[in-house]
Amino acid sequence: MIIAQLSDFHARPIGRPAYGIVDTNAAIHRAVAVVLAMEPRPDCVLVTGDLADCGLPEEYEIVQEALRRLPMPVYVVPGNHDRRETFAEVLGRDHSYLPKAGFLHYTVEDFPVRLIGLDTVMAGEDGGEICAEREAWLAERLREGQGRPTIVFMHHPPFRVGVDGMDVMPCRVTRGFVETIARHPEIERVLCGHYHRPIQLRFAGRIGYVAPGTAHQVALDLRRGTENRFIMEPPAFAVHVWHEEIGIVSHLQPIGDYGPARDFVLDPAYPGQAKPAAAYV
Ligand SMILES: [Fe+2]
Ligand SMILES: [Fe+2]
Repeated sequence: MIIAQLSDFHARPIGRPAYGIVDTNAAIHRAVAVVLAMEPRPDCVLVTGDLADCGLPEEYEIVQEALRRLPMPVYVVPGNHDRRETFAEVLGRDHSYLPKAGFLHYTVEDFPVRLIGLDTVMAGEDGGEICAEREAWLAERLREGQGRPTIVFMHHPPFRVGVDGMDVMPCRVTRGFVETIARHPEIERVLCGHYHRPIQLRFAGRIGYVAPGTAHQVALDLRRGTENRFIMEPPAFAVHVWHEEIGIVSHLQPIGDYGPARDFVLDPAYPGQAKPAAAYV
């Protein structure tokens, strides 16, 4: 099973680039084109929030049109730049798994790995939240899964990452949420977006993963007390591959033209070519 995780489209009305300069709409189409060119193609695509920049209906129409190019199932969760009702109303036309009211949570049971989408949105705020109600919903879904391999995906990372500009817009979570994640080792990944750059860490004994954005990235700034700034580093998306014997392996796929893949032509002086390496057992 191959899962492409795209994040933070930040679609804008036509002719109004994000922050005045970022053509986020073109970036969505470039990302979609890279997914379409993958061989083999992913079995499904996750989009981890901030699909729109301002939650405007015309922004979701642009997202909808781009996602229609993808022949595989696509699963979306909202972020702080989304407006839950508009998101559900416009994207719900194609994405029939989205609930008609309330939190936009759902499970997908069609694949070897269960997918659980969580809605972390706190309307009007940068940060997100897993409240007691959302925690209870997740705990129940995990109980139903009876230990099947699972991915939990959401926009706001439910963990601190040690970067001040990011940690000032946290996802408030209940202690019970952390305990729930810790109780379920079948959770292969907690996949998030929001921070616009790839980050991995251990969270509640699981692997927490933050995907980069498809357009602008957040500049890596490890100084204390600084604020996030964006930077046009190469965009990318994550490719999570499920292997029965290994579990999930997460790859990073840059978006852009970096030339063709080339064969390694080894110099005769290369010291490692005396005999083939033994295979892993
Ligand atoms: Fe974002
Ligand atoms: Fe965000």
